[in-house]
Order: sequence, then structure tokens, then C-alpha cells
Amino acid sequence: MEMDYKWLSDPTVFNVNRVEAHSSHDFGGCVQSLNGSWKMHHAKNLSLAPAEFWKKDFDITGFDDVTVPLSIQMQGYGNPAYNNVMYPWDGHESVKSGDVPKMFNPTASYVKEFIPDAAMEGKRVFVRFCGAESGMALWVNGTFIGYSEDSFTPHDFDITDVVVFNEINRLAVQVYRFTSSSWLEDQDFFRFSGLFRDVLLYATPKLHVFDVFAKGRLEKDNVNGTLDLEFTLENKDNEKVNAEIIVGSLEEEIARKQIEVVAGKNHVDFAVGEILPWSAEAPNLYELKIVLKNAKGEVVETSSVNIGFRRFELVDGILKLNGKRIIFNGVNRHEMSCETGRTVSYEDTVRDIINMKRNNINAIRTCHYPDQTFVYDLCDKYGLYVIDECNLETHGTWSVTGKPDENTLPGSTERWKEVCLDRAKSMQERDKNHPCILFWSCGNESCGGKNIWLMSQLFKKRDDTRLVHYEGLSHDRTYSDTSDVESQMYTKPWDIKKFLEEHPEKPFVSCEYMHAMGNSLGAMDEYTDMTHEVERYQGGFIWDYIDQAFRKQNRYGEDYMGYGGDFDDRPNDYNFCGDGIVFADRTNSPKMQDVKYNYQNIGISFDNNKAIIKNYYLFTDLREFDCTLILSANGEEILREGRNVKAAPGETVELPLFDRTSEIFAEKKEYTVTVSFTLREDTDWAESGYEIAFGQTTFNVGTENAGLDMLNAKTEKHVRKLQIIDCDYNYTFRGENFEYMFSKRMAGFTSMKVNGKEFFTLAPKPNFWRAPTDNDMGNRMVLRMGQWELSSRYNVVVDFKAEGNTVVFTHLLGGHQNVFMQSSYTVFDDGSVKISMDFPGIENGQDMPVFGMMFTLPADYGNVKYYGEGPDECMSDRRAGAKLGLYEFKASENFTPYLMPQECGNRTGVRFASVTDDRGHGVMLASKNMELSVLPYTPFEVENALHIHELPDIHHTVIRANLMQMGVGGDDSWGAETHEQYTLKSDKPLHFEFYIAGI
Ligand code: GAL
Repeated sequence: MEMDYKWLSDPTVFNVNRVEAHSSHDFGGCVQSLNGSWKMHHAKNLSLAPAEFWKKDFDITGFDDVTVPLSIQMQGYGNPAYNNVMYPWDGHESVKSGDVPKMFNPTASYVKEFIPDAAMEGKRVFVRFCGAESGMALWVNGTFIGYSEDSFTPHDFDITDVVVFNEINRLAVQVYRFTSSSWLEDQDFFRFSGLFRDVLLYATPKLHVFDVFAKGRLEKDNVNGTLDLEFTLENKDNEKVNAEIIVGSLEEEIARKQIEVVAGKNHVDFAVGEILPWSAEAPNLYELKIVLKNAKGEVVETSSVNIGFRRFELVDGILKLNGKRIIFNGVNRHEMSCETGRTVSYEDTVRDIINMKRNNINAIRTCHYPDQTFVYDLCDKYGLYVIDECNLETHGTWSVTGKPDENTLPGSTERWKEVCLDRAKSMQERDKNHPCILFWSCGNESCGGKNIWLMSQLFKKRDDTRLVHYEGLSHDRTYSDTSDVESQMYTKPWDIKKFLEEHPEKPFVSCEYMHAMGNSLGAMDEYTDMTHEVERYQGGFIWDYIDQAFRKQNRYGEDYMGYGGDFDDRPNDYNFCGDGIVFADRTNSPKMQDVKYNYQNIGISFDNNKAIIKNYYLFTDLREFDCTLILSANGEEILREGRNVKAAPGETVELPLFDRTSEIFAEKKEYTVTVSFTLREDTDWAESGYEIAFGQTTFNVGTENAGLDMLNAKTEKHVRKLQIIDCDYNYTFRGENFEYMFSKRMAGFTSMKVNGKEFFTLAPKPNFWRAPTDNDMGNRMVLRMGQWELSSRYNVVVDFKAEGNTVVFTHLLGGHQNVFMQSSYTVFDDGSVKISMDFPGIENGQDMPVFGMMFTLPADYGNVKYYGEGPDECMSDRRAGAKLGLYEFKASENFTPYLMPQECGNRTGVRFASVTDDRGHGVMLASKNMELSVLPYTPFEVENALHIHELPDIHHTVIRANLMQMGVGGDDSWGAETHEQYTLKSDKPLHFEFYIAGI
């Protein structure tokens, strides 16, 4: 048979001679990696690719050296392209459904020479391509072997008949960026092509377990396990074969059975007795071995897979694992690396999984394609539930109208049926032994139709230990039994509740929620709280884990993270690829602070002097953790005591806190009690002592304003009284070591000098604006509230009054008709200044993004210490995971590297802060409770930059003391507004009071 290039544009041809899909078990056979340096010729399209490059003696002198696995775009051949819904050829070539672009279809003609391991001789030899985007043809030693599509599942080919031993063999592979199946791979991600996952040779003996399907069943008693094992034996000569089936834990063998086996399918089902069930909380794995023995009793092959005993089922409309109602505290994870694109190393994957465990994430959706096999191995081992998603997305075929029509793929047509079933089968067969997988997902955003329903039936027919997930039904409910769960994306919490009231038939899972683009993830608790309140709401998967961006160099040779459009990729969706709770370099974004808190499995609330502790774990008693009560006064820890807390799964207990009449509360301070649960023992994802849950309560003893107390304690008490110098142009206060000047000519608080040092570069100014976040752009906050930007840039002092130690400015605010507000400054002997801002409210006024004062100091004052919430950036609707405490940071390091610069670095609940130079001189700020931002840039500078490296050189420290800024929202980034309770209304008077003093 010869390669027929028409296959590329024929949706009915996607598999020519590919070995049937089978499990990815270990059979102890010879495996030889073919990863490494390959030769490659790159052509813009198929017609420019070298004809007959596949011939054994084709001259490849001019071919380049490339790395396999690694997409070719990551090696300088073309560019990664960030396409979302639109197909990548849109705007370049008009391509008919199922066809491929002719002009631009990058074709990589690879050649690899190899000598097979001698140990493979006499066996059947295969080559496996674990990932080829989007389709490939293979020749070995000049003979055509096969053709295959589906970028994300393995392509195995039998090359036994053509491979030669002790000689160089030549593998020629052509990989096409676009095939007809590209119509099914319209995921919202960077588009690449080439061999991006491992390539390996393997050899199987004559007697060989080709496929294993091991179901570890947990009996209803939740104690005993049964092994339900099916395997396929290759036994061409029909030899007499025995198999020993052994189940063992790390420590001991727990069951063994000897059976006689036949060629083809074998089935055995037997009780293995008491086992420890598998769950994400306790991922107990067992090893299953199938030891094949020939007629002489010699071991000819030993296959093994890790298995877990568990039971995942729908009981009266509720998803249950091992008998318990499960909650998914999940995240969507793309396979992405800022260094290597679609090729993600084992080490990076381990890092992701450990990071998830450390942040109370218990589930992954492999959006929107099957991952590399080791991802599932790691989820089995570390304990993460998985929705394994088929490589299917056709968003671009139906999103123009938003409704299914005759263009919608895969729809119900015969033409696209088999290719869909093939990808479903390839995923299921490869992954079916992983206990971590609870759902097979038919794909993403591919609307409804019969073909997807057939996929769901295929999944169900083959496997009764899992359920089927599919979200597309929310766009087309014709085949409503395609999915066992009601899965929706970005449905608001109140709409989920309403939906469930009206449609209680299926449990509800948010397959995507909390669109974590840029500074986002506000009000997440409204979803996570609902998992405890609404029985059928069983959790969700944050969109998504990691920003998709790549390290690139700017025109000055400096590294930065490039996003959509930075690679000359047009059309593209710009920074819409940056929705991660970790940055592209895999470091945590500040959003993780709240993910960890909202996903914690211990609910801690307070009722007077006791903590109410709810155990949300399904299988873990809280006695397995250490519980510590920590008492702080004005942020300083003063006492720490351990407590014994026992609470069975689901149980609520009360924990008395410290005796409030005790001596320890003698000082007039703000006290904070933190209840902290930590790991008692090391785990494979965190060390003992690592905090997994906390709760905090705060109360004042003998004071109303701890921040002001802290400021007063640091101001110097002066002997010399405050002098007022009332001149023509300025009104000045002079104290023992300070001089503060207020301009009568409308320039404001122009000078704040302490010990002869000037702090102010500019007079402080009322500010109402923030650099729009991605969500602000999406919900058009900029249009709705843009007048507040004008009010911030252009507010003019129109009146000045002084009376004794108080001066009052009246500001006229730009962007409005005759709207005025006052700022007043009362100066005290000790050098502290009380600043009040009074905004009268405007009838029908638009919400304000921010209400506060902005100070500009020289950049020398860049060391920040504060008593407030942290340690990471927090926003009014994203502060639950922040802890009240004492923290420090440098202004220059406080800029959060969201892909597109935007509002960031904020802290909530701030009582006291100092912003000083390296010698400790600078300003202090205090308030009962304010939001504080200290950055090297103004919001306007931030708003101007498209990338971090475009921000100006650092000259200033910009302090913004705010009554509050509106929350960031997070339901989605294309319209969802900040939840009402976190908005800042301008139709009522606003008053903000805080203090500033020198230090
Ligand atoms: C969803 C889609 C995701 C991603 C997200 C927006 O519709 O399934 O792949 O595009 O929206 O970031």
C-alpha cells in the first residue's frame, strides 16, 4: 500500500494500519527510546515538501537537526499561534468543512536513523508516536507503514516485517499541521504541529498480554475488594499458557490466582479480601501482576498495572465515591510549558501535581484532550480525581450562530461518526486502568448530536466503573442522556441554584468556572459554599491552571512572556490565553491564596469564643492532623497552643478558644486567634507542619483603632508646639522635626518634610481609578465607569480653607458636571496628619472603581511593612485566603506579573503600614481598615503597557490608600460584573479617614 495524500482531507480516513488501541500497561518488554536529535525538512505546505523523502536512500544532507519531542514551532519553524474559537486558517484561506488549507499547511518531513536493540530480535517490533499534531504518515526503510490522526493519543505501528537488526534502519515520518481532523481540534490554545510527545520502539514476545482492563471493585461494605480482570492474550500458535494473577500492596501480596488462559480475551473475577480503598484523600494503590507461563512452567512475560479499589456511582442522583457524596475542588489543566510549549516534562508535571495537592485541589479536568500517560500515573499516586477528556472540540463550527446547524461538527452525520468513535476508543483503551479517572468526557464545546451520543455509549458499554461527562448538551439537548451529569461552564452561582431547582434530575458540576484571567477569581466562595449547601451541586473546575505564554525576548534582548499576537500570529485572541492560577513559569499567582482557602476541607467559623469546625473530608478524621491555636496582638504572635481535635468525616465539632479574662489580654490591642490545621506527618506532597486549613477571628480589647495606636507608638512626642505659618501663597505647619506645606493656590499638600527630607514628589491626589483588569475590560467597566479615570487624572483644587490645625481643599472632579469633594488635613504636634476624604454622592452616579488618595514619593521609599491581610495580593472579593498579620515587601517587587499589566499588588484590611528607605525613614499610614497599594507605577502608567517590560523605568513609589476598590469579579472575563456586594456605590456619600506621619 502507498500513502494517499487525499486522506489528509477525508474525515473518513484517520487510521491506516495503526495498531488497535490498547492499555498503556507495563509488560516488562524491551523498550527503546527514539527521542533525541532527528533530521527534518520543513515546508510551508505539502506541495513544497520533498517528494519521496521517505525513500531509504533519499539524500537528507540539507535536512536540519531538530529535537523530538518538541513542536516544530518551538524550534523556529513558523510560530506558535494562539487561536481560540476561530479556526487558524480563518482570514487566510476559505476552507470547506473537512478540507485542509492548501497554501499554509506546514509539513514536517522527519527522518530518524536507528539500530534496534538486539534484544528485540525475534519479537514483534512496534514503533509508537505518543503525540503527533495533527496527523502523520510513516515509512520505514522505504516501505509505507501507515497513516494516523488524533494529536493526543498514541499511534502504534507494527514494523516487524521491515525492521532489520544490526543495521541502520530509516524511519521517515511526515507530520501535517492540518488534516481533516483539525476540524475536531479547535481547542482554545496555542496551535502547534510536529512530534511533541515521546517516540519509542518496543518489542513484544510471542506470548504477550496485549491489553489489560483491571477493575478494582470496592464492595458495598467499603472494606473488601474484588478484582474484575479482562486481558487479551496474543498467542499465535495457541500454546498452552497459564497465568498467575497477583495482587499486592507495597508491603505484601494480598491475593494470587492461577488460571489457564486462551488466545484472545480472558476474564477472571475474584475477591481479594480486605483492602484499603483508593480516593484522592488516601490514594491506596496495589500492583496487579499477570505472570504468563508457558507449558514448561517458564515465565515468559510479566505485565503489571497499578490498580485502586474504588466505587464511583450515581446514587439517587448524587455522585458518590466509595459511598460518600463527592465534591470536586478541581482545576482544568492544559499541557503547557513556557519553555517547551506542548511538551511538558515529567518534572514539571510532578511540580504541578504537588502544587495542586498543597493547595487543596482534588481534581483535574484534562482540558480538552488526553494528557501524557504519566499524568494519570501521578494522579493515581498522589491522589487527584480526573475527568479524562477526549480530543474533540469544534467550537468554531457553531459559535458564529451559537446554535447547532448543518455546519456544526461532528453533528449526527455518518461522515464524522467513525473518527469521533476512534478518538473516544483511543483514549479509553489507553487510560482505562487508572483509578484516578472517574469520568470519561466526550470532549469540549462540540455542541450535541448523535455522534457524541455514540461516543458516550461506547464509553459506557466498555466500562461500568466510571460515568460520562459532556458539557455540550447545554447547547443542544437532543441526546440528553449523553452525559450522566449536568455539566455547565461559567454559570453564575444563583443561576446554578435556579437550574437545580427546576432540573433536579442530574447532579451538577461546573466543568469550567472562576475564569482566572489576570487579576480575577473574585467571589469564589459563592461557588464553594454552595457545594456544602446544595446537595446536587458537586463542585467545579477552575479555568484554568497555567497561563499559556512563552519566554521570548524583547527588542533589548530581555526575556518576557509572549502571549497571543506576540508571534505575529493573526488572527489571535491576545492575552485570553492567560487564565492560570499559576503563571506561565509555574510559580503561583496570588490567586492561589484564595484557591487554597476556598478548597480547604475543614470549615472553620467562629461563634463568640469558640470555633465551629466542620470536617468536609470524606474519609479522613481530623485527628490525623495537628491543630494549633495561635494568638497574636497587633499582628505579633504572643501564644501558641496545640489542641486535640477529633471529628469524623462530615462531623462538626466546637473548639473553645483562649479564656478572654486571662492576663494575656491585658494590653489594649487588636487580638487575632488563628486556628491552624497542619500535617502531622510528611506526605509525598508536603512536609509535616504544612498548613492545610485555617480560620481566623479578630477582636479589639480596649482600643478601636489598632492601626492608629501603632502609628502613635512610633511618632515622636515633641516638646515644641506646632507652629502655623500663614503666608500669602502657602499655609505651613512646623513642628520639632517636620514642616508640612499646603498651597493656598490650589496645589494641595505640596510638601511633607521630616528631619529635612522631602517625601512628596507630587501633592497627594484623590484617586478613583485602577488600571483595568482583564475582567474590567471584558465587562466594559472602562465604558461604564470611564468618567472616574477623568476624575482621577483631572481633579482640580478650587477652594482652600484653613482653620487652626486643619486645612480643607475642595476638588472639582473631571468627567462630571459640577461634582465637588473635600479633602481635609488635620496636623498634630507629633507630626501625624489625619486625612479625611468626603465625597457627597451623585444622583444616579456610576459605581466607582476606587475611592482613596494617591501619593507619589521618590522610589527610595520602597520598603513596605504592614499590618493587614496578606501575605499575597488580595482584593475586596478575593481576601478569604489572606491572613491578618505583619508582612513586608518591596514596592518594586509588588507588581504582579499578569501577562497584560493591570491593577495588582493590593492589600485589604490594612491597619498600619510604613513605607521607608533603606535607612528606615519614610512615611507611616494608619487606618481602622483600609486597602493599600504600594507600587512603582501609577494606574495610568500600568494601563498604557501591553507587557510588563513596557512599564517605565522606576522613579517613584506610588502609594494608594483606599477606602476600598471594587472587587475584581471572576465568574467569567467576557461580561460578568463584580458581584454587587463588592461594588463601590457613588450615589451615596463616601467618607474615608486615615493618618499619615513621618518615621
Ligand atoms: C471555554 C472553553 C475553554 C476556554 C474558556 C475561556 O468556553 O471551554 O477552553 O476557551 O472558555 O478561556
